[in-house]
Amino acid sequence: MEPQTPTSRRVLVAKPRGYCAGVDRAVVAVEKALEQYGAPIYVRKQIVHNTHVVKTLEARGAIFVEETEEVPEGAIVVFSAHGVSPAVHSAAKQRNLRTIDATCPLVTKVHNEAKRFAGQDYEILLIGHEGHEEVEGTSGEAPEHIQLVDGLDSVDRVQVKDPSKLIWLSQTTLSVDETTETVAKLKQRFPNLLDPPSDDICYATQNRQIAVKEIAAEAQLVIVVGSENSSNSKRLVEVAMDYGADASYLVDNAGFIRDEWLEGVTTVGVTSGASVPEELVEEVLAYLAEHGFGDVTEVEPVQESMRFALPHELRKDLRTVS
Ligand code: F3S
Repeated sequence: MEPQTPTSRRVLVAKPRGYCAGVDRAVVAVEKALEQYGAPIYVRKQIVHNTHVVKTLEARGAIFVEETEEVPEGAIVVFSAHGVSPAVHSAAKQRNLRTIDATCPLVTKVHNEAKRFAGQDYEILLIGHEGHEEVEGTSGEAPEHIQLVDGLDSVDRVQVKDPSKLIWLSQTTLSVDETTETVAKLKQRFPNLLDPPSDDICYATQNRQIAVKEIAAEAQLVIVVGSENSSNSKRLVEVAMDYGADASYLVDNAGFIRDEWLEGVTTVGVTSGASVPEELVEEVLAYLAEHGFGDVTEVEPVQESMRFALPHELRKDLRTVS
């Protein structure tokens, strides 16, 4: 075997990667709330599923809580990008909390679909991961109409009242390929199952999966920067493995990379989940450069330019001041 030289080692970095428009909006909402109203600002659940982001905001005065009951009466609370059920809005109102809703507009779109189809008496099969905050929020819009379908294996267990009045919706951060398979299996059982009016898996999840497929086809190792509780980041690891990588690991930051992962590897792919700040990717690239992987090429199969306005409750006050 040819001995490896530093120049034979390269890194392919996927683009788009990292922050999506919904995460950027949610993080900026907390930052602006801290500036505008002062600390502390309470945040229900992790604002986005990334350890580094949460710690950074905590250091600036954000207090993360699990439920609104933990927030002092009358205080300001921000709802995370994953969305909340109507019951959480009511609980906040009862405690007289000032709320800033940082739910991603693309999650709100799925909530609205759930409300609309439940209102028309459809039974909704919601494809998603049990226990995920987004699924809890969406299900809470119409609990009596929504049934969770968590993965291919659960399709056999689905029981419906009327197979002629059924629609499927999904969590925004799933694997596109796996969801297609799940829907196909559902349609074998329920041929009249209706498709959602538009894709529920969001543009950012789809684009990051398209980009990781490109790099995984050429890389032996794909490093995905992201936290363990980040659904879209975990899906990137699975997609990388399905599309040709010999190994793929999810790392919160460069400190989690093991030197032995690089043994015998000539091409490393790097990407990051939608809640990951770019500085964490830069640290991974610095680590790789120190280990002889200094030749970095960006692979951008799809361009992205989505932006969302800040939550209106906040915009209103920011306008008043400026
Ligand atoms: Fe929204 Fe998709 Fe990001 S649903 S928060 S744009 S991952």
